[in-house]
Amino acid sequence: MLALVRDLFFVARIRETARLAGVPLRLARSPDEIAAALAERPRFALVDLTGGFEYEPLFSALVAAGIPVLGFTTHALARQTQPWHARCERVVTKETLTADLPALLRQGVEERRGSPAALPSVGGSGGRPEPPSPMTAEEFVRQLDAANQALLSRLAPEDTLKPEVQGDLTVVNLLKVALKNEIEATEIAARWLVTVDDVDVKLALARQVGDEAKHYRMIAERLRGLGVDVRGFDPLAKGYGPLFQYLDTLPTTVERVAAGQFTREAIAVVKNRQFIEFCEAAGDRETAALYRDVIEPDERYHHELGRTLLLRLASTPAAQEAAARAARRTLELADELQQKALATAGIHHAPGC
Ligand SMILES: [Fe+2]
Ligand SMILES: [Fe+2]
Repeated sequence: MLALVRDLFFVARIRETARLAGVPLRLARSPDEIAAALAERPRFALVDLTGGFEYEPLFSALVAAGIPVLGFTTHALARQTQPWHARCERVVTKETLTADLPALLRQGVEERRGSPAALPSVGGSGGRPEPPSPMTAEEFVRQLDAANQALLSRLAPEDTLKPEVQGDLTVVNLLKVALKNEIEATEIAARWLVTVDDVDVKLALARQVGDEAKHYRMIAERLRGLGVDVRGFDPLAKGYGPLFQYLDTLPTTVERVAAGQFTREAIAVVKNRQFIEFCEAAGDRETAALYRDVIEPDERYHHELGRTLLLRLASTPAAQEAAARAARRTLELADELQQKALATAGIHHAPGC
């Protein structure tokens, strides 16, 4: 199968699902990649109709190659993508595709006609997609978790980086980056704590504020132990980072919980695990133990708090869409920030929140 999909979050999910379903997958975005993929005669093409591709030449090439198309769109963009619906053998909404990805990847454009479990589809007739069947909060959280994990694996480098004796890549420098992450995690949770009415959410955020502030103090103490006096150090001297600024714009509780707790804390768990290995490679057992015994279990707990709250809050299609969008943007930002840190400072082991 050939997939023409722009959205990174969705690409990761499709890749993982195809792997589990045993469906050979080829991803393509540029015209050259598409031409090369068509030469391999895929069984069908999955086309993101909202992906901003050059659709006219794309559909011409697919028709010329005799490749059937399973298109997908969203309710919000269905009117805009409608001109292309008739060029597809089958069109489904993104929600349907997400909910039934394994079956759709296996089936391609063949509908299970007459089956009571037939998937909602608008066929190739150019109509509006039918409403997707609603997903339960449990299903949604399970899918979000799987999608997050697939993308998180991109944040994990192949090998443990070698600590540098001379240079920027040292435990001390990474701990200073950690201070900034911890103060930002403290503050965003505190900002949300005072603006939410839901008592369970308030208490979860209060616990997080306390933990993140404790992490800050423990890391500062550890830096002192390593001979670095951080009393005059202001981790926010250069302002808040892009991830903090993004989180601060999120208006609803479900988005905040999905992005700030469920996703950001999952990132922290991955990064802290890398950092523990890094500390061990540097021979710094004490810092490794601080992360392994105290900080990492706390971050894991914050992630689980996020899961518990999402199971209650992500109960409608609108809430699920908002939560998924916020989680995806959080991961994209983390990925971008990591690429930037790697390019500018050679850092990709900075511990998380
Ligand atoms: Fe945390
Ligand atoms: Fe923390």
